[in-house]
Amino acid sequence: MPRSGSWRSAGPAAFVLLCAASIALSGAASDTPSLDIARGRHIATALAGCADCHGTDFGGGRPFTRAGQTVFAANLTGGAGGVAAASDGDLARAIRTGIRSDGTRLQVMPSREYAIMTDADVNDLIAFLRSLRPVDRSVARGAAPAGTPSPVGQESPAERSGPLGTGVYLATIGGCTNCHAANLAGGARIGEIVAPDISHAGIGNWSFADFASAMRTGRTPDGRLLARVMPWESIGKMTDEELRSLYDFLESKPGGAS
Ligand code: HEC
Ligand code: HEC
Repeated sequence: MPRSGSWRSAGPAAFVLLCAASIALSGAASDTPSLDIARGRHIATALAGCADCHGTDFGGGRPFTRAGQTVFAANLTGGAGGVAAASDGDLARAIRTGIRSDGTRLQVMPSREYAIMTDADVNDLIAFLRSLRPVDRSVARGAAPAGTPSPVGQESPAERSGPLGTGVYLATIGGCTNCHAANLAGGARIGEIVAPDISHAGIGNWSFADFASAMRTGRTPDGRLLARVMPWESIGKMTDEELRSLYDFLESKPGGAS
């Protein structure tokens, strides 16, 4: 029993010190809202697809080629080549406005969608990034496009405060509206594939169970396996309740010809 023995032999003095430390910590935290790293991880891996582009180790490096120019997903950890030097404010600004701390515009990063992220969610997300195991990986930066960048952003506060608000929020930060269009009727070419209609006109005959199963297994009710460009694996990590909010929102959109 060396473990408990050494713990006990540390005696009451260590116990008092521990109490003092935790009182000091809770005292420091009391004027700022508490951060939820688990929620941050859920946002990064399930709700907002950060891991899809920045990697499951968040060390970046994945290339994206648009219009002949290649940019690489950034290293979001505190390791060499990462974002240790960026302040929380810098990171929040990069996520929600697509502008880096040096004032240049980020390519590919879907900040137009992340602009609606709540302060609580952004803070939890950054707390999660700060908790990551550092990855040493230098990633080349995208060339800054010409001109002074203006922040991106789309807001639909009226829709978000309605009964389908959670679904609107998840469909936006989850990129559904980015790839499948704002009315979810699809039509844009994503790589080799045209994004399908996922409004009522497209998947109106899917039950909620069909939808949840497609997001979790990649299999549609008619047995097709969805391509990986559709990030079903991360979307499938949403809770049942989140998937239900999303489904209700998709079904509320008429899509199709309307
Ligand atoms: C579609 C792919 C994609 C998704 C999804 C994505 N990113 Fe990015 N992100 C990128 C790319 C590519 C860059 C680098 C762009 C450049 O160099 O111009 C980047 C850059 C960044 C930067 C700037 C880092 C720096 O060097 O200052 C931050 C911060 C960031 N992403 C955070 C996030 C977070 C948090 C999420 C999820 C909420 C996320 N990203 C989702 C592709 C993505
Ligand atoms: C990076 C682009 C992208 C994002 C982000 C994305 N999708 Fe998709 N999605 C696609 C593509 C492309 C397909 C077609 C895949 C195929 O046919 O193999 C697809 C297929 C689907 C399908 C199957 C439809 C059918 O009839 O087969 C559903 C449902 C779906 N997406 C829902 C969503 C939801 C919900 C979100 C947001 C949480 C989302 N998608 C985010 C690109 C995307």
